[in-house]
Amino acid sequence: MDTAFLSARLQGVAAEVDAFMGVALTTGRRPERLVAAMRHAVFAGGKRMRPYLVMESARLFGVEGHAPLCVATALEAVHCYSLVHDDLPSMDDDDMRRGQPTVHRAYDEATAILAGDALLTLAFSILTQSSLKLTAARKLRLVAMLAEAAGLDGMVGGQMLDLAAEGRFAANARRQKLGNRAIRRLQALKTGALIEFAVLAGAVLAPRTTPVERRALAVYGRNLGLAFQIRDDLLDIEGEAARVGKALAKDEAAGKATFVALLGIDGARRELDRASDAGRMALQGAFGNQAGPLCALLDFNRARDH
Ligand code: IPE
Ligand code: IPE
Ligand code: MG
Ligand code: MG
Ligand code: MG
Repeated sequence: MDTAFLSARLQGVAAEVDAFMGVALTTGRRPERLVAAMRHAVFAGGKRMRPYLVMESARLFGVEGHAPLCVATALEAVHCYSLVHDDLPSMDDDDMRRGQPTVHRAYDEATAILAGDALLTLAFSILTQSSLKLTAARKLRLVAMLAEAAGLDGMVGGQMLDLAAEGRFAANARRQKLGNRAIRRLQALKTGALIEFAVLAGAVLAPRTTPVERRALAVYGRNLGLAFQIRDDLLDIEGEAARVGKALAKDEAAGKATFVALLGIDGARRELDRASDAGRMALQGAFGNQAGPLCALLDFNRARDH
């Protein structure tokens, strides 16, 4: 599967997710400013990589249509919320995101916090809505998995470790020098958990799966999550701000515990390649040629410039 095909597929997924979000985020009798801020967070042109993962992992098992789209949209709502809060002055303090002012810049901080809160809770409304034709047991499983991936044992926990590594909570405000294991854990939680959810959700939607298939998806998800955050960290150093759409060259100054800080640029590139190869091997072993669309994302990530 070549990159042009992948881009077209990503755009198709984006259009479907945007249409779903458009319906979910109508004004009606809701606070207009809050809906506008949520729309700003959602419709600013993200890559929609996580929705793609949900839809392609479901497709591996022959599942298409409304159910994967619901799960994909719920996950994208959580992801967008995580970005709104990540950019807040008290977190990474960023002014630009996806080439536009961040939500707290376009609106204000309180509105941004509430927009994030409402996007997070929207995700769980979507997973429990009646138009999602899944058994109650499957819906519950998805809710439990997304809650774990998003919260204390996932993204939020990782964000806490990310900020703590800057040394901002230490009495002497010294940066923590994290080792390989600690940085891996931090990144697996901060970014990996939602990406792993995306990949494993496909298996929850499938009528039946084998342990070998589920294990392969888990290995792929773990390695893609790692590769994805390494590419993000590399872009902070070698990316072009206009293309990436956010301020760059910030991680080192902030004292972020990135793989680039640990391994250097070349070491991080090697780790990116290693993780990408491991993800591909696992998936091809279990799914053969069917793994094409998910393997293509590994290549896309390796070379992405935004
Ligand atoms: C950025 O995620 C934040 C990280 C977890 C590294 P993406 O690069 O997927 O952001 P969008 O959705 O495409 O803007
Ligand atoms: C953010 O990581 C991961 C989230 C959970 C949102 P970063 O702080 O590196 O993401 P960017 O670089 O701001 O997109
Ligand atoms: Mg951050
Ligand atoms: Mg950030
Ligand atoms: Mg970053």
